[in-house]
Amino acid sequence: MGKTTKKAVSICITSAKGGVGKTTTTLNLAGIYEVLEKKVLIIDLDVTNGGIALSLNKPYKKDIYSLFDDISLNIHNEFATYTTKYDDYIDILPCFIDPRSASKISNSIIEEIIDRASFLYDVILIDTTHLLNELNLYTLDKVDKILYIIGNDAVNLKNMKSIIKIFNDLKINKYKILLNNSYNPYKEYFSLYDIKNIIKANIDYSISSAFFIPNIDSYVMNGKIITLDKRTPKTYVKDYEVLLNIATDLLVEEEENE
Ligand SMILES: Nc1ncnc2c1ncn2[C@@H]1O[C@H](COP(=O)(O)OP(=O)(O)OP(=O)(O)O)[C@@H](O)[C@H]1O
Ligand SMILES: [Mg+2]
Repeated sequence: MGKTTKKAVSICITSAKGGVGKTTTTLNLAGIYEVLEKKVLIIDLDVTNGGIALSLNKPYKKDIYSLFDDISLNIHNEFATYTTKYDDYIDILPCFIDPRSASKISNSIIEEIIDRASFLYDVILIDTTHLLNELNLYTLDKVDKILYIIGNDAVNLKNMKSIIKIFNDLKINKYKILLNNSYNPYKEYFSLYDIKNIIKANIDYSISSAFFIPNIDSYVMNGKIITLDKRTPKTYVKDYEVLLNIATDLLVEEEENE
């Protein structure tokens, strides 16, 4: 408090397997932060499928590559010229318009973006892919917090177990684990007890199968965020509270173990 500059908390939303609700959760958390009156930047780092701007129905002309290109050419435009506005609280830095751009950027662009955005936002949410490629590893290293989303099936848990082991070896402890039972409510194969035993880690949060949204595609088609729908807190009381809890928890600064 009392600082003249503000520093955003950067959060990477990732997973050990694809299709477990990363993009949906990123958008839902952005909506919760808006309710909390926090300014949010969503960075779409899903370099091949990037769907944030599409999910929010926002056409765009500039992407991460435009920013990278201008920085390389030493052209200093304001950060806001590269982002696409969703509403008064949420901006998007869209994924590459041309997927081939992914191979042209250098990983350090992530640090540059986080640095620049830090003074403009309260929260930076980075939606990514489950791949442990160089760009994602670099991003995981640079962010303040990591939200790992897991689904309730054997492949998911097997992959997550390996990641926990790597994180333990590297002494990385800035991650939280979210068990997401909502994207496929018929897939609850393991109990919470089994899951903890398999991955050898604690589950920090769970979203229940009750949060399965049958008409989710209509939100996407209309560019709407589920958590900004006035009916959501009343219809999905418990899971909305879990999302609120995750959002506030991730803003709390923790002592990092060097
Ligand atoms: N709560 C929910 N209710 C209903 N469907 C959901 C829910 N959450 C996610 N889905 C659906 O599950 C699918 C996967 O979700 P999403 O795209 O958010 O996952 P992802 O982890 O980002 O996937 P990818 O690894 O491909 O980027 C999508 O079709 C999405 O609409
Ligand atoms: Mg996604």
